[in-house]
Amino acid sequence: MCGIAYDLDGKVVVVTGGSRGIGLELARNFLEQGARVVICGRKEENLKAAVQKLGGGERLLAMAAHVAKEGDVENLFDMTVRQFGGVDVLVNNVGMNLMTASVTDTDLPVWNKIIEGNLTGAFLCSRKAARIMREKKRGKIVSISSLAGTKASPAMGIMGIAKAGLEMMTKVLASELASFNIQVNAIAPGMVRTDFSKPFWATPAMHDQIVKSIPAGRIAETADLAPIVLLLASRLSDYITGQTIAVDGGATVI
Ligand SMILES: NC(=O)c1ccc[n+]([C@@H]2O[C@H](COP(=O)([O-])OP(=O)(O)OC[C@H]3O[C@@H](n4cnc5c(N)ncnc54)[C@H](OP(=O)(O)O)[C@@H]3O)[C@@H](O)[C@H]2O)c1
Repeated sequence: MCGIAYDLDGKVVVVTGGSRGIGLELARNFLEQGARVVICGRKEENLKAAVQKLGGGERLLAMAAHVAKEGDVENLFDMTVRQFGGVDVLVNNVGMNLMTASVTDTDLPVWNKIIEGNLTGAFLCSRKAARIMREKKRGKIVSISSLAGTKASPAMGIMGIAKAGLEMMTKVLASELASFNIQVNAIAPGMVRTDFSKPFWATPAMHDQIVKSIPAGRIAETADLAPIVLLLASRLSDYITGQTIAVDGGATVI
């Protein structure tokens, strides 16, 4: 646990894609801060495993939901409100990549799938959460973007396009929702050690190649991201909105 007073005790936090990787780590950190946490994912078995890893309890709700399906998103937030009485924080963590040859050679269904997973889902969740939050005139939306949203990367081209859209959506929503006391921000990690990124660092040679592009000299761990997300979810960041903070060990500066 981080030793900063984030004041998240009792807050209701929805972490999309909270069953693995970064989302699971964020859910763990929010629970440690005393928040009530809702995680979602597509696969029940992943959610069950996550509940076990998080230790269960009354402050945790796990629900199967595909973030790019409007009905699933409605159910997810309606259930959250029924169970916990509102939504204080949304973390748009879901993201995905499909190895594509190039944008030029990508078929429309693949394009649509990547845009849906990284952008449409965040739109649907943000829209629903903002409608709930604006009634109470407070809230926080934090999205997990990527270095790929700034730096063109052949293996993550379409995902990068979607993440750039996510960063612009962060600015647009921030300006729309500021008068409702809702702050909207994002973080843009570089490479983080999860299943998602494993194809890029699986062999020692690939790992060394990646590390050469990171001034900090290492790939991030999920724990490197959590304090920044907690900050953006807390009152400590009430005067920050529309920003994307790079959490990348300096990868964007070289
Ligand atoms: N890892 C990195 O190096 C890295 C770097 C920069 C940015 N990011 C971003 O960080 C976020 C999390 O990445 P990660 O590495 O933790 O990914 P991950 O290990 O693949 O975990 C993804 C999570 O999202 C869920 N999920 C995927 N598609 C979903 C959908 N359509 N609806 C609902 N849930 C869905 C997955 O569960 P199910 O499979 O059961 O649905 C899982 O819980 C992503 O936005 C990613 O772009 C990651």
